[in-house]
Amino acid sequence: MLIYGATGYTGTLIVHEAARRGLDFEIAGRTEEKLAALATELNVPYHVFSVDDLAGWKKSLLGKTALLNIAGPFSETANQAMEASIKFKVHYFDITAEVDIYRLAESKDAAAKAAGIMLLSGAGLFATYDPLVVHTAKRVKNPVAIRTAFKYSGGFTPGSVASSSNIINAGLLVRKNGEIKKITEAPSVAFDLGDGPEEFSLMPLGGVVLSFKSTGIPDIEEYFKMALPAEGGEEGTLNFQAGHPKTELTTQRSKILVEVTGADGTVARSMADTLDGYVPTVTSAVEVVSLALNGSYKIGFQSPASAYGAALITLLPDVNITDF
Ligand SMILES: NC(=O)c1ccc[n+]([C@@H]2O[C@H](COP(=O)([O-])OP(=O)(O)OC[C@H]3O[C@@H](n4cnc5c(N)ncnc54)[C@H](OP(=O)(O)O)[C@@H]3O)[C@@H](O)[C@H]2O)c1
Repeated sequence: MLIYGATGYTGTLIVHEAARRGLDFEIAGRTEEKLAALATELNVPYHVFSVDDLAGWKKSLLGKTALLNIAGPFSETANQAMEASIKFKVHYFDITAEVDIYRLAESKDAAAKAAGIMLLSGAGLFATYDPLVVHTAKRVKNPVAIRTAFKYSGGFTPGSVASSSNIINAGLLVRKNGEIKKITEAPSVAFDLGDGPEEFSLMPLGGVVLSFKSTGIPDIEEYFKMALPAEGGEEGTLNFQAGHPKTELTTQRSKILVEVTGADGTVARSMADTLDGYVPTVTSAVEVVSLALNGSYKIGFQSPASAYGAALITLLPDVNITDF
């Protein structure tokens, strides 16, 4: 595999996890100094080129099975990296949460199929979220609507801050009757994720694209809330150590609640809680790519659960699921 964007905060965690698991990989990015240091530390080859450099992609993807793109914001890198994957016939993965990137991947479905490769955007958060949606949908007859509430515990790196702006700038997107619609205002909604009712804001995290792909359920709304730091904790960027917030926040868990409504009005709720911070993204991305490296993939645009089903969540460490 080639890991592009390997020297960012999340990239560095991912390459160490890939090395720990004994995967066969090389690293790439645009800044030589950082790449050379990381490559020496891990004893792997490295490639320096910008995302617009087709010759760089050609040389570095030669003999590879998969590309894992971790260079975000993905609005600046995903189109070039997806096009290179299609051209040089390697499976494509990224860890974006930018909804427009999922739509971009969806738009390249036919090209990916023609190339015989899988385009799987969202191998981070969505490796938990999307299988959980499929799991919950199986608990009602004729599912017609999904609502999700994601409570994130942690901070943000600079790459994530830039990506968050892209998510917010995408607007208030929901899926209604099978179509994505932009609405002008959305009241906050109270969900109880085990800490009593709390207000969440509408935010398109990408389920409007990915969970529609994996379930075909026509109505989807997604809500988000940042967990407040524990007392004495700090908020903001770069407040991390080895993927976790540096403070007492590490005792908190990120939580995803999924509600699926059936045609008869029955509602099933399932919740997953994970470690806080970026650790779940790191282990998820490496797990998902390793499945493809071992020959398990579906060609064309895929979400984590359309490719690997609800069972994917059971492969991820330290994820607890509660049905109620
Ligand atoms: N959904 C999830 O589960 C999840 C979780 C964690 C992170 N993420 C996303 O992953 C991305 C990376 O996060 P991070 O924590 O690693 O951020 P970061 O520490 O700020 O690193 C960003 C990385 O991307 C590279 N990069 C940025 N723009 C580039 C461009 N135009 N061309 C080539 N390389 C470029 C940077 O290269 P230089 O070092 O050369 O500047 C750096 O290696 C962000 O978009 C973030 O939102 C998603």
